[in-house]
Amino acid sequence: TRVALIFGGRSGEHDVSCSSAAAAMTHLDRERYEVVPVRITSEGVWVVGPSDTGPAVLDAAALTALTLEEPDSAAGTGSSARVCRSLADALTALGSIDVAFPALHGLHGEDGTVQSLLEMLGVPYVGNGVFASAAGIDKEFSKALFRAAGLPVARGVVLRRPDDDLSPELRGALGLPVFVKPARGGSSLGVTKVRSWGELDAALEQARAVDPKVLVEEAVHGREVDLAVLEDADGELRVGPPLEIRVTDDRRFFDYDAKYKGGSAVFDIPARLSPELDARLRELALRAFEALDCAGLMRVDFFLRDGVDPVVNEVNTFPGFTAASQFPQIWQTAGVSYPELLDILIANALG
Ligand code: DAL
Ligand code: MG
Repeated sequence: TRVALIFGGRSGEHDVSCSSAAAAMTHLDRERYEVVPVRITSEGVWVVGPSDTGPAVLDAAALTALTLEEPDSAAGTGSSARVCRSLADALTALGSIDVAFPALHGLHGEDGTVQSLLEMLGVPYVGNGVFASAAGIDKEFSKALFRAAGLPVARGVVLRRPDDDLSPELRGALGLPVFVKPARGGSSLGVTKVRSWGELDAALEQARAVDPKVLVEEAVHGREVDLAVLEDADGELRVGPPLEIRVTDDRRFFDYDAKYKGGSAVFDIPARLSPELDARLRELALRAFEALDCAGLMRVDFFLRDGVDPVVNEVNTFPGFTAASQFPQIWQTAGVSYPELLDILIANALG
């Protein structure tokens, strides 16, 4: 089976995607799959790497070296990467592909755009389709769909225009602290926890640097628990054991550094929850999957208000996929190894 592993991309989560893809490439069974690495640069140029890269354990730097824009220069890898100046060029370089694996996070990848390209080409692909991806990336619309499906979400306000501000009434209604977030972002980039209204302008500016549309949400005080949903080749849905994120330093929340620079957050899998709360979270995760018409996989992140009442915070239609990321860790704990997880996702795409 020839797999195009697409990664990188134009979003702020480019580097995270490179790490996710390196882990996926490392764990794809080379007896079963011929993997073609395809990196989309931060500028949007597609670079199609060589497929005969062997079973070596790869990190993001090694994977990037296989797909350099200047394959003949400094790296001296003798790599036969092809830099494609147009999408048509990229498709020619790819040749025939059995399945695409978009290991992309954020805009132009996790938002339905790449999925729509693959859809038009008739290439099966791993994970969520156009609609679920587009709805999942946009916190305004995913919350609207969750609310319509009766799922609990945090109260919040959408600010659309560059000079939109929060009226005193809205400030009073939301209370402090609030989270200020780009509506379409990921990995907490551009997210600030605002503890006094004097911090709001700077927070709005940071969020708007990622997306002109911004959400201001009440901060839900409580624990943070992530759920993973996986669909097998027959369309059966499984929910993995809940994972609790405990931020162990005095950071304000599970931010970009805590996510990727390491050392300041630990995961408890399974989270220590009552059987009732465990069951309730699993049920809500399935309902969230269905509310967005998801396929293949999804990670749903909850807060437990006062430790007991689940509130859906957000979803990731292609969650972080490094070996240390929540989604693979949850499945590992459930007895599904990383290579098996990849097999299931590819079988689901082809099924
Ligand atoms: N958006 C990042 C990759 C995550 O939530 O896992
Ligand atoms: Mg996210």
